[in-house]
Amino acid sequence: MKKLIIANWKMNPQTLGEAEGLIERTEQQLAELGPAAERIDIVLCPPFVFTEEIGKLIGQGTLASSVSLGAQDVALSDAVSQTGEVGTAQLSRLGVRYVIVGHSERRGKLGEDDAAVNTKLKTVLRAGMIPIVCLGERTRDGNWQEALAVQTAGTLHGLTPPEAARCLIAYEPVWAISTNPDAAPDTPPRAVRAMGIIREVIADRFDAAQPVFLYGGSVTPENITGFLMRPEIAGVLIGGASVRADDFSRILSLAARLP
Ligand code: PGA
Repeated sequence: MKKLIIANWKMNPQTLGEAEGLIERTEQQLAELGPAAERIDIVLCPPFVFTEEIGKLIGQGTLASSVSLGAQDVALSDAVSQTGEVGTAQLSRLGVRYVIVGHSERRGKLGEDDAAVNTKLKTVLRAGMIPIVCLGERTRDGNWQEALAVQTAGTLHGLTPPEAARCLIAYEPVWAISTNPDAAPDTPPRAVRAMGIIREVIADRFDAAQPVFLYGGSVTPENITGFLMRPEIAGVLIGGASVRADDFSRILSLAARLP
């Protein structure tokens, strides 16, 4: 099974020139990997301002077979005017195939609740794109298992079983995301156990849909192998390390050469 490496650039980098530099390094790394590059698929989720240019760059050469374009967010719907937002039709036209929904920074800092994430999720699915659905508890205190189960049910509410099966589930414990104070990555076995909670809710409500799981939260070259070695984990969602060119190159190399 190919491993999926999803880069969430967040609000980085500052200039198109720097973004082009990151793409160049990715291209070099893929060329260096040779046939091993076929063992990974990469999804780049740049900020909207660079989406079009990045789309053109990854449509060429070695990049075209390994790299797809993603977006970090989307408007609630294409039908209602929402100043400042970007709709699925616009993204599709630029070649975007994947859309992150429900990232914890949008939930926590921008007030997106499960109902809003659910609306976006349906919008993405109905536009024929692949949603990367972020789920994760804020802390491991108290009954966090219940909080995770409730968030899962609310986020996926009303999906048909085939729709649920098309979701990539990014388990991202909020406390593990590198931009939070005292962040530390989860351990692979604990992350897999938490994914089990999500899997149970999905199996219960969506008739045995088998979700594809990604892990996110302080993934680095030092810890990625441990996550990707787990058969339950199909890939990773990476923030900070995805815009550090050296780290990202090492990550690609490690993922492509997993034992
Ligand atoms: P991080 O971010 O890899 O910097 O922890 C992950 C994310 O926010 O998706």
